[in-house]
Order: sequence, then C-alpha cells, then structure tokens
Amino acid sequence: MQFFIDTANLDHIREAAELGILDGVTTNPSLMAKEGISGEQNILNHYKAICKIVGDDRDVSAEVISTEFDGMVKEGTKLAKLHDNIVVKVPMTKDGIKAISWFTNEGIKTNCTLVFSAGQAILAAKAGATYLSPFVGRVDDISWDGIGLIEEIAEIYETTGFETAILAASIRSPLHIVQAAKAGAHVCTCPLSAILGLLNHPLTDIGLAKFLEDHKKANG
Ligand code: G3P
Repeated sequence: MQFFIDTANLDHIREAAELGILDGVTTNPSLMAKEGISGEQNILNHYKAICKIVGDDRDVSAEVISTEFDGMVKEGTKLAKLHDNIVVKVPMTKDGIKAISWFTNEGIKTNCTLVFSAGQAILAAKAGATYLSPFVGRVDDISWDGIGLIEEIAEIYETTGFETAILAASIRSPLHIVQAAKAGAHVCTCPLSAILGLLNHPLTDIGLAKFLEDHKKANG
C-alpha cells in the first residue's frame, strides 16, 4: 500500500518525505485555504512547491474548483502542465465523470474525489480514473461504515478487473490506516498525525528504556 500525505502544509510534507515513506500528496480546496493559500497564481506556485519537495515520480493531487465540464477541462489542463507529478482531482458529479473521461483520453492522470458509494466507484473506474477517493472518516461521521465501503469497492474492482487505484481518504487515525490496508486500499492518504501515530506502542518505549538502562549498567 502506498502512503500519501493529505495536507497542503509544506512543513508536514517535508517531515513525511524525510521519513522516506512518502509516495505522494493529496490536497483539496479546504486544505489549501487552511494554509492561507489564495489567488490563482499563489495556488499554482504552492502546487509547484509541493512537487519540488516530494521529488519525481510521486503523484500530487490538485483539485479543480470549476463545477462545469468546460471549466474543469480548462483548469485541469493548466494544473497538469505545472509538473509531471500533478494528478487532476475532480469531484464525483456528472460533469466530473465527463471530465475524467476527457482527461483519460488525453493521458492526464485523475483522482475522483468525494466518493461515498460503490456505484460511484464503478462510474469513476469506467471513466478511467487513475485514483478513486472514498472518504472513510466522513462515512463514519454519519454512522455508516467507511472501511466497509473500501472493502466493497476492493471486491468489485478485483472481480471486474478495473485498474483504478483505491485511495482511502478522510483518514483520521492510525487505526484507519491499518483497517484501510486490510480492506484492500492501494493508497492511504493521511494527515501527518495519523502517520506518526503508527509509531506509537508503550512496549516499544518500555523496551527501549530497558535496553538503554542495561547498556548503561554494563558500560558505566
Ligand atoms: O482527502 C480528503 C480529506 O482531506 C477529507 O478529510 O477529515 O476533511 O473528512 P476530512
């Protein structure tokens, strides 16, 4: 399973990249706004800065703001020209599916976002989406089963042979990451806190303290 970081915060992206485990980045308009990035040129420059940090061959999802097909195509084409790493992120709407089909024909990678059902996952895969982003946390938020959705889509893609990668999004915790991996997600995009949370185990801390204490006793 690939690890993406779900943020527009450059320090968080750098920290994850330095761990050597980072395969890509996802952003969305809310995450860009959270970092105070606004205005077309600033937004484009920020995507370029992200691509520079992660280096070659690591996909960076940049989301279109347009909701109409023509606008999505225009905006996505501009984003895709920024850097080879850019994946055009498109919402799961009728125009979005049409745009994903268009980008697929043009050889431009896409990430279909705001996915909440298996039916939507089938449509996006038919349109040739490179990535599909089911929102695990937001499904859990309404007392449905976010990880169950990943399992269902993974089964459908396996059965049908669809090549779209399942990118588990709206991940909120280390447990979500483990569950998404078990459920068959090809990629998990997570905030830095969830990635770092994977490190934690009290027995690791206790064990390390004991090793160091014993070494000190033996070596003075
Ligand atoms: O990748 C989508 C993600 O950013 C949404 O996460 O926590 O706002 O549901 P959240």
